[in-house]
Amino acid sequence: MRDRLEALQNSGLAEIQKTEDLKQLDDLRIKYLGKKGEITELMKGMKDLSNEERPLIGKLVNDVKEKISEEIDLKFNFLNEIQRKRQLETETIDITLPGRKITKGGLHPVTETELFIKEIFREMGFDVADGPEIEETYFNFDALNIPETHSSRDLQDTFYIKSDVVLRTHTSPVQIRYMKDREAPFRMICTGKVYRSDYDISHTPMFHQMEGLMVGENISFANLKAILTEFVSKVFGERKVRFRPHFFPFTEPSAEMDVECVVCGGKGCRLCKGTGWLEIMGCGMVDPEVLKEGGFDSEKVSGFAFGIGIERTTMLRHGIDDLRAFYENDMRFLKQFKK
Ligand code: DAH
Repeated sequence: MRDRLEALQNSGLAEIQKTEDLKQLDDLRIKYLGKKGEITELMKGMKDLSNEERPLIGKLVNDVKEKISEEIDLKFNFLNEIQRKRQLETETIDITLPGRKITKGGLHPVTETELFIKEIFREMGFDVADGPEIEETYFNFDALNIPETHSSRDLQDTFYIKSDVVLRTHTSPVQIRYMKDREAPFRMICTGKVYRSDYDISHTPMFHQMEGLMVGENISFANLKAILTEFVSKVFGERKVRFRPHFFPFTEPSAEMDVECVVCGGKGCRLCKGTGWLEIMGCGMVDPEVLKEGGFDSEKVSGFAFGIGIERTTMLRHGIDDLRAFYENDMRFLKQFKK
């Protein structure tokens, strides 16, 4: 047994010496030290030894195991180091290769239009105001002269949070908030989200509006026409516009402003439903009741107001025919508007 152990140790060490790659070395580890390896095999003969011999041989077995294991570790480190060196010599990294491009995002078309039209009014001297999306019914309805019985107060149109608190259904309440702590003259705009319980090809429960208000002495419908005509020409180019009589509770007189169809130029097509005109905003002279709620004397000052749908304006600018495309987050759609 002693001799066989010695022979095993010698052949093991010799083989380890000769090995030149890591795979071979691993095979040797299994051959000598593995569960089914030569040493394990040899140990089966231990049971035939005498009681005196057994501990001596046992110690010898452990010594041989340790010796071979140490040798394998040494060789492993050695081969590993060689392999690393060879890799460093043969492999190169081309640091002149261009990196992967990071694609930059772009503005959502509705945001882009919002910023664009805001800038037009800012250039005309309008102050940019803001108001809450969760609004008191007083500001959203009462102060705007919208009677208790008006259909827009119905539960089906308005998202109520409490009996006197709603998600604002339009940006018009900002008119009242702004007037309450201002002196005339002033001109302001406000953009933001509004909410209505509606969903189809031309309505989403959330959409964006822009509100405008100009108040001062002798502000007339002529001022309204001048400012809004200038605005429309900046957004849609030089086109005919018209003002159609309409009704809004917060303006008197009220009008809807139309622009010559951006597709057919007035001849009549699918977009303008054959009329040659596209409706773009509601407007009018601020109702005396509304001025009063804002803290102004309608004998001394007058004003005009207007409200524009930002999604609708974006659709007309880019020829988009389904409003819902704005909120589906389809990158193929959104990427087309990247600048
Ligand atoms: N608030 C109206 C709406 O949501 C839009 C509007 C019409 C606003 C006329 C105005 C205005 O300021 O004068 O339908």
